[in-house]
Amino acid sequence: MFFIGRCRVGNLFSTLFLFTFCIFTAEMKKKKIIVAITGASGAIYAKLLLDNLKALSAQIERVGVVMSDNAREVWRFELGHSDYEQYPFDFYSKMDFHAPFASGSAKYDTMIIIPCSMGTLGRIAQGISNDLISRGADVILKERRKLIAVVRDTPFSLIHLNNMKTVTEAGGIICPANPSFYSIPVTIEDVAQTVVSRVIDLAGLEQDSYRWSE
Ligand SMILES: Cc1cc2nc3c(=O)[nH]c(=O)nc-3n(C[C@H](O)[C@H](O)[C@H](O)COP(=O)(O)O)c2cc1C
Repeated sequence: MFFIGRCRVGNLFSTLFLFTFCIFTAEMKKKKIIVAITGASGAIYAKLLLDNLKALSAQIERVGVVMSDNAREVWRFELGHSDYEQYPFDFYSKMDFHAPFASGSAKYDTMIIIPCSMGTLGRIAQGISNDLISRGADVILKERRKLIAVVRDTPFSLIHLNNMKTVTEAGGIICPANPSFYSIPVTIEDVAQTVVSRVIDLAGLEQDSYRWSE
């Protein structure tokens, strides 16, 4: 009886160990991330995210970046420069359907659309995969992987809200570009970082950032 009991305890421990090990290695697996930048206001969010991902490169296997035409225009207008392509990531043109993440077989883990315009949100919600951004999102959703849409506009129409509902029902995460202020941010970058830190958390990356009540 004692022997049987010990065997059971032994089995339990090895199962628990295996389970913990699997979770640990899954968490430690380097991620393949798509960053899509669209023409909503808030290019600073995109810039900060790219800065953060560069700093977190030890956790990341690959970052693919795609920008819409208006994203380039808004970046120039709001940030006063065009040095987005200085990042050590793979940049793809908006109509490049040969980009790896145009297919589910490339197995990208996460797509972050930051900022996400109402136009892009609408195309994704309706399954209109007519460029690499909407196709990438379509692929991520069909493969049941993680889509994070940092939507930006104000106020929202019923059409916008219904599109957010549709994307949420399809498994996407709507993470509005709404900064928080309880960390008492000082600069504009600090304010924008409150949104980007939530995006980093949602993407499953580890980062030191402000934690409420810690
Ligand atoms: C300076 C500027 C700011 C804009 N801000 C927003 C915005 O906050 N939200 C939005 O949905 N569209 C905004 N737009 C309009 C979009 O750029 C436009 O609808 C575009 O067609 C979106 O296409 P895209 O998603 O392919 O970039 C803005 C345009 C400009 C020029």
